[in-house]
Amino acid sequence: MASARGQFSSRFGFVMAAAGSAVGLGNIWGFPTQAASNGGAAFLIVYLILAFTLAYPALMAELIIGRHAHANAVTALRGLSHTPAQRRFGGAAGTIGFVVASLILSFYAIVAGWMMAFCVSSITALLGSAAATSWLTSFGFMRNELGVLAFMGLTIMIVARGVQNGIEKWSERLMPMLLFTLVVLVAYVLSLEGAMEGLKVYLLPDFQRALNPDLIIAALGSAFFSLSLGVGTMLIYGSYLDDKQNLPLIGGLVTGVDISIAVLAGFLVLPAMYVALHNGVEIYTAAGDLLSEDTLIFTVLPELFASMGLAGTLVSVLFFFLMSIAALTSSISMLEVPVAYAVEEHDVGRQSATYAIGGIIAVFSTIILLNFDTLFGLVITVTTRYSQPLIGFVFCIYVGWILHRDQLLQELRKGNPDIERGLFWKIWPWWVRLVCPAIILAIFARSLLA
Ligand code: PFF
Repeated sequence: MASARGQFSSRFGFVMAAAGSAVGLGNIWGFPTQAASNGGAAFLIVYLILAFTLAYPALMAELIIGRHAHANAVTALRGLSHTPAQRRFGGAAGTIGFVVASLILSFYAIVAGWMMAFCVSSITALLGSAAATSWLTSFGFMRNELGVLAFMGLTIMIVARGVQNGIEKWSERLMPMLLFTLVVLVAYVLSLEGAMEGLKVYLLPDFQRALNPDLIIAALGSAFFSLSLGVGTMLIYGSYLDDKQNLPLIGGLVTGVDISIAVLAGFLVLPAMYVALHNGVEIYTAAGDLLSEDTLIFTVLPELFASMGLAGTLVSVLFFFLMSIAALTSSISMLEVPVAYAVEEHDVGRQSATYAIGGIIAVFSTIILLNFDTLFGLVITVTTRYSQPLIGFVFCIYVGWILHRDQLLQELRKGNPDIERGLFWKIWPWWVRLVCPAIILAIFARSLLA
């Protein structure tokens, strides 16, 4: 069965694809502003601790289940089960995973469509077309819908080509482009007046704010969202890995790239806000907090770019291009989850499955757009705050309690014959069995009470 499935052709290709999934709007947009309003470097420390103690072990659980089964989450969890009840439970968790992946994609495509529209609007501004520019930056239904269709079209085109020719090839192209664009933007913004003020806000730790329990819940949610956990994307990518690969190392690389890009994005977004302040743009709310989320991206930053003349327009093209690429390498991993399930469980061709499922997700996005005030926030909360940690919990339980210890060891030995002697094998198996589920449940229970 494994030979008929797609497979990544190299370690580099896999790391680019998995890091591409992980690095997205969450890193470049979410992380820096959360850090800024929650204690700066202290938030960074909490985030790093959660990333390495919880997200990395949970990522390893997904990669191992995927590579062990060489199958999508539904088939994989059913296959690992020993009793009919476990089979049903595993099948249900995998199914919820692909529904959640599709729902995340349906709101992600809306936001990504905005990014693409703003990128094109900077180009039309450069060409002097005021009418097109103002339409592209308005938040009307038609513009939003076209953004969704364009973004979903690109996602579908890549996924339809399969693992090696689509996902791997495009991730290998887009990820270096993303890193390059980010570095150019950071270097430029840091050279502007006011930038140092932003660096201070980002880097000076305020531990009082960072140790607030609500913040830890938020950091857990972001760590899961940021590493694309708890929906089966990492599981399915792991299932396309060959047996020679050293999983703990590869998982570590993916986590490292994800965190580094988030931290690097902080060196762009925070200094940019204070450059904006220096240029006379309002960056605080009435309550004195930093503006964040959509106001930051679609009001503060565009006002900053507008205050910088021609250079500002070019920076704006680059910035929104960066956002669009980051979103695209993540969205392909989300679409791959239901597509792989349809292809493997229902014997549908990859192309038809991709077009049909991508089309259904675009319809979901349209429904959200038509009921924006009620649905947009709700879908985000249900998927990212509740579903991702809970499904992540189920993956940890499968690896920690249902997969036998020697099955685990055999799987890990394939790419690393000496694994038993290393620190990873001494800590990770009991950590994923006891500590990860306990922390997820504790934080989750608190978030229900909050
Ligand atoms: N990791 C992505 C980000 O940080 O933007 C979001 C994401 C991708 C979530 C893929 C879930 C997923 F399956």
